Amino acid sequence: MLNVVVLVSGGGTNLQAIIDSVESGAITNTKITGVISNNKNAYALERAKKHGISAQCISPKDFETRDRFNEVFLETIDSMQPDLIVLAGFLVVIPEAMIEKYRNRIINIHPSLIPSFCGTGYYGLKVHEAALARGVKVVGATVHFVDEGTDTGPIILQKAVEVEQGDTPEVLQRRVMEQAEWKILPKAIDLIANGRIQVEENLVKILP
Ligand code: GAR
Repeated sequence: MLNVVVLVSGGGTNLQAIIDSVESGAITNTKITGVISNNKNAYALERAKKHGISAQCISPKDFETRDRFNEVFLETIDSMQPDLIVLAGFLVVIPEAMIEKYRNRIINIHPSLIPSFCGTGYYGLKVHEAALARGVKVVGATVHFVDEGTDTGPIILQKAVEVEQGDTPEVLQRRVMEQAEWKILPKAIDLIANGRIQVEENLVKILP
């Protein structure tokens, strides 16, 4: 059984997609052990509680130094003994010690086709604003392992989504979530839970 901890900051629609997929059996061999948010008002925490999943807030704001936050954050994660950490709209930089310790066991969903519209400053709605400003006709989402860079780790799954005439950033964000994110994030977890993902250097192989 893959023991999964999900990290969130906001609405938690990706968390919801994971919960629903575990409950429906679309994700197998997986248990969501806990949800952590850096934002105590995140609706994602309510979603977890409604499904009987332990949910807690750990915020850098509640610590005197970033180093102290990083230590307590890592201790909290360690105490949950995760096989996989899922960043589902988590907007806090992951401490290097955690990346090192959980190498190829942390995945992130990013709302663009990496390497477009990613890296520092590209998160949430900003990604979709930038895509519309550039006039691209195809956007999408990416699930990747987390390494020391921002959105640079090995790519697991991607899905393309068409931009439509008259799209606003909000409309495009919703379409990318519905057509791509809520599909490929649960799919990636299921592949990992069933031993079908192999990482060599920074390339991912999906086993049959
Ligand atoms: C999602 O669109 C996710 O891809 C994005 O934040 C949103 C969270 O929504 N993540 C990033 O931009 C990370 N760089 P949710 O809380 O409803 O899942």
